[in-house]
Amino acid sequence: MTGDRPSWAPESIDLDRPNAARIYDYLLGGAANFEQDRVFAEKLLEVMPLARSAARLNRAFLRRAVRFCVESGIRQFVDVGSGIPTAGNVHEIAQAVDPAVRVLYVDNEPIAVTHSELLLNDSPHAAAMRGDLTDPDPVLASPLIDWSQPVAVLMVAVLHFIPDSAAPYDAVAKYVSAMAPGSFLVLSHGVENPSLAGRDEVERLYRQSSNPGVRRTPDDITRFFSGLDFVEPGLVWTPEWRPESPEDVGAHPESSLVFAGVARKP
Ligand SMILES: C[S@@+](CC[C@H](N)C(=O)[O-])C[C@H]1O[C@@H](n2cnc3c(N)ncnc32)[C@H](O)[C@@H]1O
Repeated sequence: MTGDRPSWAPESIDLDRPNAARIYDYLLGGAANFEQDRVFAEKLLEVMPLARSAARLNRAFLRRAVRFCVESGIRQFVDVGSGIPTAGNVHEIAQAVDPAVRVLYVDNEPIAVTHSELLLNDSPHAAAMRGDLTDPDPVLASPLIDWSQPVAVLMVAVLHFIPDSAAPYDAVAKYVSAMAPGSFLVLSHGVENPSLAGRDEVERLYRQSSNPGVRRTPDDITRFFSGLDFVEPGLVWTPEWRPESPEDVGAHPESSLVFAGVARKP
């Protein structure tokens, strides 16, 4: 892929601007990205070398959180801002425990949706749809999910691409109100850190992409969980969320750049 449109790239995608889904795919070692995404990601790594490990640690949080939800009895997942499929997708983790678990992937980036559909061709209990986090109704109407039963809604590393002007708090609240008691919200979000080296350069870079980032403090992030009870250990750096070994956390969990939490609807 050198800027020419490959056969799998839908006509509707904007090839001229780097995009969060494809930049993240490149950081994770994926192949569903274009020249301008790779150039962007390399510039990002120059000003913020931690970006690649932050992406991996975020993904590791997602895996642990999905396992936690399945072990807590959840049998249906909605992954909003799911991204381009990569190692350890939600249905792979959850269906390894129970093949009947249902998973709905939602993303507003057409390549993420096309790749998810290809991957899910043979999966009767999983589906992908194009949708926007800020427009919950089409997702809430999907026949794959029974909202009268507990569900885990994942919003992992997506809300920091949605400015307050697009009303993300209202959208999350709408999901939360649709969720049955015993459901979980699984969320991670980049954290505002004024002393972080390269922070302004990163913001400048992202302004040229299709997904300019948003700065939110831990208090701002906590507000997304309104009406829910945090499960232990609450809102923490991604590697601190139920690590599988002390080495997972390391000496500098803050270098993960991202806060994460899981909360239950009472
Ligand atoms: C950094 S990736 C995270 C992917 C995955 N959730 C993970 O944590 O591994 C962010 C994803 O959010 C998607 N996204 C950004 N804004 C969105 C929106 N308003 N609605 C739905 N998806 C969105 C992007 O297309 C991208 O795939």
